[in-house]
Amino acid sequence: MSTAHAAGRALDLAVIGGTGVYALAELADIEAFEPQTPYGPPSGPVRIGTFAGRRIGFLARHGEGHGVPPHRINYRANLAALKQAGAQRVLALNTVGGIDARYAPGVLGCPDQLIDYTWGRISTLCEEAGTEVLHVDFGEPYTPALRADVLAAARRAGVAVVDGGCYGATQGPRLETRAEIARMRRDGCDLVGMTGMPEAGLARELGLDYACLAIVANWAAGAGPDPDEVITLDDVLANVRAATGGVSALLGALLAGR
Ligand code: HPA
Repeated sequence: MSTAHAAGRALDLAVIGGTGVYALAELADIEAFEPQTPYGPPSGPVRIGTFAGRRIGFLARHGEGHGVPPHRINYRANLAALKQAGAQRVLALNTVGGIDARYAPGVLGCPDQLIDYTWGRISTLCEEAGTEVLHVDFGEPYTPALRADVLAAARRAGVAVVDGGCYGATQGPRLETRAEIARMRRDGCDLVGMTGMPEAGLARELGLDYACLAIVANWAAGAGPDPDEVITLDDVLANVRAATGGVSALLGALLAGR
């Protein structure tokens, strides 16, 4: 592995790994790119390598040792690092809880809407005095063309992916109460996770194409058949591990289809 100037050439895709996804096993010829960004350091190095003959970058959102909780992630630095590494398209892997019945544990989904319940996070590039104020359009929070590519790749790879749904981004790191999930369901949320925002909004401000591939790891609190179920990290991680084959096949098809 080299830490030489791995950036410079464009990447076909950047992938952000969430809880339980700290590396891509298929990535070969890996170089580590550890840029300075205007926003400070990212969660860890961007691992640049080849996958299905394409050049891609991978970043573990929570750090490779899962040391950074959702509210402490430097989302701006992570996305800026991927852009500096040559990314234009970013596929975010997000481990989530399922609220709607279509999103049972083990299911993969590609949401098309988002509600932000987070607070106190730096959620814009316009934070510092003197920076240009941006009011980016965010009616479609995920890039439609990239979503379409993801769904087409899933079909080619024979991987089932639920098309659409609303991702509710909560503050964490605790999981939600049953009342909070009931409220989110009434709001129209189908999935719940802790990292979907401000990441998606910042990607839009940075001009990056961005889509989410959600890995449903558990029923959200009170949403499953057993309303008294207690969610454990072991179950979450086991379900993410079980989903990685499908995620890899989808990524391979997405890259091969370019
Ligand atoms: N809630 C919020 N974030 C999550 C969950 C959940 O149930 N499962 C995995 N990430």
